[in-house]
Amino acid sequence: MKRRKFFESVALTSAAAVTVSATSVLLTSCEPSAEIKSPVNKAKLGATGKGKTPGWVKNMKDSDMIGLGPDGKPDLNYNANGTGHTLADVDPTQPFQMTLTLEEQDVLDGKKGEALSKVMKTVVAFGNAFGATHLVELGGAPHSSVFNAPPFMKSIIDVFNICADDGLKTYAPFTVNPRPFDLYNVQTQPKEMAMVFDGYPLQPELDQVLMRIGARGMNSRSCACYLSEIGNAPPPETYVAWAESSAVNFGNSVLGLRTNRNAGGMELLCALIGKAPYFGLMTDEGRMATWIIDVKTTKEPDWGVLGAAIGIRVVEDVPYITGIDKYFGGEVTKENMHKLKAMGSSTAANGAVGLYHVENVTPDAKKRGKDLLVEGYQTYVVDDAEIERIYSDYPNLWSDKDAKPNLCFIGCPHNTYHEILTWGQMVTKELKKRGQDKLKVPMHLFVSIPVRNHLLDEHPVLVRDMKRAGMSFSNMCAMMFTGLKGYNEDHFAVTNSNKSRKYSSARYFPDDVLIEIVMTGEIPADA
Ligand code: F3S
Repeated sequence: MKRRKFFESVALTSAAAVTVSATSVLLTSCEPSAEIKSPVNKAKLGATGKGKTPGWVKNMKDSDMIGLGPDGKPDLNYNANGTGHTLADVDPTQPFQMTLTLEEQDVLDGKKGEALSKVMKTVVAFGNAFGATHLVELGGAPHSSVFNAPPFMKSIIDVFNICADDGLKTYAPFTVNPRPFDLYNVQTQPKEMAMVFDGYPLQPELDQVLMRIGARGMNSRSCACYLSEIGNAPPPETYVAWAESSAVNFGNSVLGLRTNRNAGGMELLCALIGKAPYFGLMTDEGRMATWIIDVKTTKEPDWGVLGAAIGIRVVEDVPYITGIDKYFGGEVTKENMHKLKAMGSSTAANGAVGLYHVENVTPDAKKRGKDLLVEGYQTYVVDDAEIERIYSDYPNLWSDKDAKPNLCFIGCPHNTYHEILTWGQMVTKELKKRGQDKLKVPMHLFVSIPVRNHLLDEHPVLVRDMKRAGMSFSNMCAMMFTGLKGYNEDHFAVTNSNKSRKYSSARYFPDDVLIEIVMTGEIPADA
C-alpha cells in the first residue's frame, strides 16, 4: 500500500501536503479519539529487541512520490519516502534495533510517567523504521508544523492534550507555522469568514494545546522562523527535529543544522523528550550529495522555477548546485537569502528535498566542496531552455480559465524584511510612474508581525502608501486559505511562490510580470 493511500485509510490526510504524516498514525499510541484506534495500542514495544514492531510500520517507508530519471521520464522505481532519506535499508517490521541509554530505557519503561513513555515509544518506533542507531540530544529550539486544525486533527490535538495533562513541555519554547487564516486582513467578509470557521473548527483547541506544551506567543508565528526578527536560528551543526518542509530545507542547507524532514507531529514528540532518532540528514553520510546540478543560465535564474526543476529531478536526494554562487557574492545575507528561500522551498514542494548544497555559499559546501559528492553521482544541467521548458508547462488551474486575476499572493514561505521593502518600493514607484492611485489587483504580503513591524519602524510613510495602494500585510499561511471549500469558485490568484503554485490553483509568474498584472488587472498575452 502506498503511503498516501495508507493515510487516507486512517482518515488522517492533512490539507497541507507537508503535514501528511506517518506521525499521525504513530501518535495513536497516546490513545486518541476512538474513531482511529490503531494496532499500536496493543503492540508491545521495547527498545531491546524483545518487542515486535507492528506490521503497518512498513507503510511509513513507501510513498507515491516519483522522480524523473536521467532520460527525463518518470522513474517508477524511485524509492522515495518523504523524509529526505532514501538510504535506510531496514525491515521496519523486525524487532527494534536502536540502542538506548539506561535513562532513555527508563523513560520508555514508564518510570517517568505514562505519557512520556508513550512519546518515547513512538519516537523509537519511528527511528527504528529508518534504521536509526540511537537518539541524539536536541539543541536550539523546536519549530512546529502542526498549525492548522480541520476536523481530522482531533486525534493529534487529543494526543497533545494528554501530554499537557501529564505536565510535559518541550525542551525549549518553540515557534509555530503561521495560523491558517486572518480575519482582520484577509477573510474580512462574512462569506470568507464562514469558509474559515467551517474549514478550521478546531483552531482554538489547537492553539491552546500548543501553548500548553510550550509554544511561544502568537506574534512569533511564522514558517520563516529562522529570520532574525523571529530568532529561531540555532548555530550550525545543531541537531533539531523540525518538520515544516521549507524550514527544514533552509535550516539544513543555509544554517547548517542537522534535521530530518520529519513528519508533522513527530517534531513535537521529539521536542517533548528533547531527543531525536539519529539517521538520514543528521549524519555525515546522509548529507553527501548524489547529484550535481550544473546551472548554466545566461542570466539570474527564476529561483522558484530552478527549485522546481531540481525538486522534480532529484525528488528527495541531496543535490550539490554549481553555477549560482555569483548571485550571492560568497555570503548569504539578509538581502539575498530570499533567493535561497524561494529556490529551496520549491525543491521541497516540487520534490521532497530536505538538504541541498550550493558551491561556495552554503556551510557544508564551503567546508568540504566537491568532497561532498558520492562516487557515481549523477549530473543535471539546467540552462535557459530547461527553465523555459518547466515554466511554460505550468497549467492554468483556475475554475474559470479566462477569469481576471483578483488576488496576488506574495510570501510562501513568509517574506523577509528585504522582500516587503522591495515590493513596497517597486509598487509605489510604478504607481507614481503610471499616475495611478491604486493597484487593480490587491496584493497580500504574508509576513510575520515582527517583520512587518520592522518595516513600520524603518519606513512608516512607505507602509502608509503601500496600504493606500491596496497592499495588505497578513501573518497567516496563504495556502491554508486556498484549500478551503468554495475558494476556487471565485478566487483567481497569481503568485511568485512556486510552493503556492504547487499546492493550489494560484498561477505562477515572475516578479516583473506580476507587477504588470497588479497594475493593469490583466495577464499579459506573452506571459
Ligand atoms: Fe509557510 Fe504556509 Fe507556505 S506555512 S511555507 S506560507 S504553505
